[in-house]
Amino acid sequence: MTELVTISLGERSYEILIGQGAWSIAQRLAAVSPERRYAVLADANVLRLHKDFVETGLGHLQIAGAPIEIPEGETAKSFGMLEIVLSQLLERALERGDAIIAIGGGVTGDLAGFAAAIYKRGIDVIQVPTTLLAMADSSVGGKTAINMPQGKNLVGAFHQPRLVVADFAFLDTLPKRQLLAGYAEIIKAALIGDADFFDQLEYSNRDSLTALHLQAHLKTAIQFKADIVEADEREAGQRALLNFGHTFGHALESDAKGALLHGEAVAAGMALAFDYSVRLGICPENDARRVKDYLKLVGLETGLGSLPGAPFTAEAMVERMRHDKKNAGGAIRLVLARGIGNAFIHEVADEADLLNFLKDKIQ
Ligand SMILES: NC(=O)c1ccc[n+]([C@@H]2O[C@H](COP(=O)([O-])OP(=O)(O)OC[C@H]3O[C@@H](n4cnc5c(N)ncnc54)[C@H](O)[C@@H]3O)[C@@H](O)[C@H]2O)c1
Repeated sequence: MTELVTISLGERSYEILIGQGAWSIAQRLAAVSPERRYAVLADANVLRLHKDFVETGLGHLQIAGAPIEIPEGETAKSFGMLEIVLSQLLERALERGDAIIAIGGGVTGDLAGFAAAIYKRGIDVIQVPTTLLAMADSSVGGKTAINMPQGKNLVGAFHQPRLVVADFAFLDTLPKRQLLAGYAEIIKAALIGDADFFDQLEYSNRDSLTALHLQAHLKTAIQFKADIVEADEREAGQRALLNFGHTFGHALESDAKGALLHGEAVAAGMALAFDYSVRLGICPENDARRVKDYLKLVGLETGLGSLPGAPFTAEAMVERMRHDKKNAGGAIRLVLARGIGNAFIHEVADEADLLNFLKDKIQ
């Protein structure tokens, strides 16, 4: 069954189709404008694994040329690759009224979304996320970016998609490790602002990764993100809460030099955020325990010594956090929690204490 979440942003409103069968519904796109041509940007692995399925979804659309293949991995989010993509769009003579269909994980979606934002001053993009992380998080909300040698996602634009199509058929081939990493972003929604949702996740235990539970949880997480994006599209305020676990997580991710997946880093980062909140005396210890127990139960590691990419260095992590693009006025800005479902923005007053906290955790 395909379900629907709508993001209401005036003329930039769009629908997110979720579940088995969503991709076949995407053919409705053809009815929107029979004149419109589409360029397909697709993750190379997804094209290889789902070639026929991808083609069935594109059946009645006017496709401009062969799919533009995006090589796997974070390095594809680069200026070099962006230039290749833009040249290919020009070669296909894509016009302002045409659109890009991005089929892949967050890497393909972020790159394609940014290309769409700047090609001929902006064309439509349809996001077809094929990883759980991209379904739960990156395809929704309009953030697009590429990386710079100085750090991840430093150059980009807000560019809302025209439609998001999250078909579970793609998940059949997704490695378990990638699936779990995406699940971390679903848990994140509960921890930020929905304690009842966290109860549901706990009750559904390991079986939560069956398609039925997963679809329900994914829809709740997407609806949660949709509500926040509607209220604060450009992250002037509460949208920053969606960075829960990310400041610690990005520091771990860059220290791990590619060994740690984004969602794995976020999971460990969320555990750190809870532990640091307990240390500051603002969160009950029992909540932090429940969160870490649940992450462990589903298979997400939180012990810094056991994470891929260990050992980590507290000094390097704090240095990385100092340069986080979410900071303002020179202070490190973290999202912490007063408890499960009650996250808030916190500016670090005592960096030395943060460093000691991380040293304790790394030991
Ligand atoms: N824009 C946002 O709001 C936002 C939010 C979160 C993360 N991100 C970005 O998303 C990226 C991470 O996304 P990701 O985890 O999807 O990584 P990814 O796009 O690199 O995909 C992970 C791996 O899975 C493979 N893959 C994709 N779909 C598959 C499928 N159906 N079957 C088998 N293999 C498949 C890919 O080839 C790749 O090797 C990061 O660059 C991160 O910065 C963006």
